[in-house]
Amino acid sequence: MHNLLQMSPESRAAFEELKEREAPKLAQRFAPRDADLFWVRAERYFQDLREPLVQLYGERPDFADYFNAIFDTAVEGYLARPHPLRLLDLERQITPDWFERPNMVGYVFYPQLYAGSLADVRQHVDYLQELGVTYLHIMSLLRPRPGKNDGGYAIMDYRSVDPELGDMETFQALAADLRERGIAVCVDLVLNHTALEHEWAQRAIAGELDYLEYYHVFADRALPDVYEQTLTEIFPDEAPGSFTFYPEMTGGGQWVWTTFYSYQWDLNYTNPAVFREMLEIMFFLANQGVDVLRLDAAPFLWKRLGTDCQNQSEVFLLIQAYRALLRIAMPGVILKAEAIVPPDALFRYIGVKTTVGKQCELAYNNQHMVNLWNGLATREATLMTKAMERAPRLLVGSAPINYIRNHDDIGWAMANEDLQAIGADPWAHRQFLNNFYTGQFPGSFARGAFFQFNPRTGDARICGMTASLAGLEIALEQDDGAAIDLAIRRILMMHAVIMARGGIPLLYMGDEIGMLNNYDYLNHPDQAGDSRWLQRPRMDWEKAARRHDLHSVEGRVFSGICKLVETRKSHPVFHNFALFQQFNHDNHQVLAFARKRHDGDLLVIANFDEHPQSVEANLTGRAGLTGHIRNLLAGHGTLDQVVGGRYYLEAYQVLWLVGED
Ligand code: GLC
Ligand code: GLC
Repeated sequence: MHNLLQMSPESRAAFEELKEREAPKLAQRFAPRDADLFWVRAERYFQDLREPLVQLYGERPDFADYFNAIFDTAVEGYLARPHPLRLLDLERQITPDWFERPNMVGYVFYPQLYAGSLADVRQHVDYLQELGVTYLHIMSLLRPRPGKNDGGYAIMDYRSVDPELGDMETFQALAADLRERGIAVCVDLVLNHTALEHEWAQRAIAGELDYLEYYHVFADRALPDVYEQTLTEIFPDEAPGSFTFYPEMTGGGQWVWTTFYSYQWDLNYTNPAVFREMLEIMFFLANQGVDVLRLDAAPFLWKRLGTDCQNQSEVFLLIQAYRALLRIAMPGVILKAEAIVPPDALFRYIGVKTTVGKQCELAYNNQHMVNLWNGLATREATLMTKAMERAPRLLVGSAPINYIRNHDDIGWAMANEDLQAIGADPWAHRQFLNNFYTGQFPGSFARGAFFQFNPRTGDARICGMTASLAGLEIALEQDDGAAIDLAIRRILMMHAVIMARGGIPLLYMGDEIGMLNNYDYLNHPDQAGDSRWLQRPRMDWEKAARRHDLHSVEGRVFSGICKLVETRKSHPVFHNFALFQQFNHDNHQVLAFARKRHDGDLLVIANFDEHPQSVEANLTGRAGLTGHIRNLLAGHGTLDQVVGGRYYLEAYQVLWLVGED
């Protein structure tokens, strides 16, 4: 094994030294085989770990101490890992594509809104299984600050569960239960910022030097003013600016970096103590039974004067080091980047070129999400096809999370060049989308709301539930059967596309039964200023109870999604590891892409229009499909839409075509 590993002489020396120091600790507490496992992995990932840390912190005189402390944290994390989870690590090491398989189907919710407490969630796991869920993102799990807390993303204690939900033991029990049923658990690691009520921030406020260095704190506006010249405001409407003045801090008050709300203090990752603290928290959460850590607001972790302080190269070094540490101590645990950024930045979070295998295993494919909504509004697939040209053809060991909606806004982060390439003016086009999804554009079927409208720049983003944005809310209000039918078709079309796009398709709670916008948030002062609550309804179990009635809206959406899930699960061609290819062809209303594997090819054709459309049938040939062509989404039998060399598609129809011998 040794000579397979490329370690620099410095790393080799550092490794041998650390091994000598830490080996007795492991040998004392673990059987030889368990200790060996750790060392085999440590050796394998040592260079991946040490290199980025040297680049980040190597100039410091105390670097060696920090490095040793970080490595020791990994040893402790492994020692604390419960036996069933160590077994899971092994299982996943021999099945490293576990999160890429066709059976992966995700679901995300706020437990409070889905069921109540964690104990209540346990009562509703059957529902998830009925849907075929194998990956569950439980948002807002940890103890938030009291009062306004950005939907749980302002945490005051990373080691305890929100008391309204239960405690850590209840969470462990839930996670064990889910594990037994084959459902992986994802939770948020809010690593960019803590709540101002967090102990570290409180100690900084009290003037403790060590803790002041955990954050970005400034005595006056000099630097903040310079930074703000190039920063974009994230919440311009409710929380303008990126710094907040805290008068109670020493020296007559200080300015603290707060990218998001003023009560969310950005952590300072130039300080290796912060890196190590967050590592300990990661290991702690993973050892409770968390499989996937969602790196919240990942792009913001490193600040650099004169930039927008997003996607800085150091962010990727931090991620690389964290990943290597997980691979060493608990390789069953993976990372997911929440990086809602333009396309070229996005793919760096899952590793491209030289960073393949060194970044997050998962990342939200916000590009695809935005392009789906763009396609619905314009009835054209051209922008999506254009954007697909930028996406990697093949991902090795990492996967996108493909989704339609989540708890956040839709920001039109498509590439300007792509818009220009299809002849659209980027500014005017974004205005059109905003008007369309707030229902102001004549004839729009959508009902949504602005998020963080910025009167200075005219920028805005969009909020709303999938069903409302797709036309169901207006159609139901007008009791218009044909419009209801179209809205349901739009919902199912988008789901059919994300299920076939590779990676993990992620369902947002309530979408599977066509739940509409939640206007109740306006009655809650803590929520009223943040329109993202429009898409954060309480789960409607009465509606869910109608899911088996195939004449109800709920039943039509639910059964449609279940069919997609079942089909996806039963064909290897939906595995993430596939060569991707998009097609230009003669109909702008229709999307066509293929996924090619050694065990079969898939051609997806989707009509983005409410009118029937047709495309050249030789797409199957271009995609390399051979033999008898079958549409997996047709009941059974052969494909009957081919007439005169063309496929005919109904409104919003999707074909999943495979060639069979
Ligand atoms: C992420 C969360 C969002 C939150 C922000 C700040 O983007 O998804 O809800 O407001 O981080 O924590
Ligand atoms: C941040 C915010 C999120 C928003 C995104 C893009 O990640 O937390 O709500 O969608 O930025 O603006």
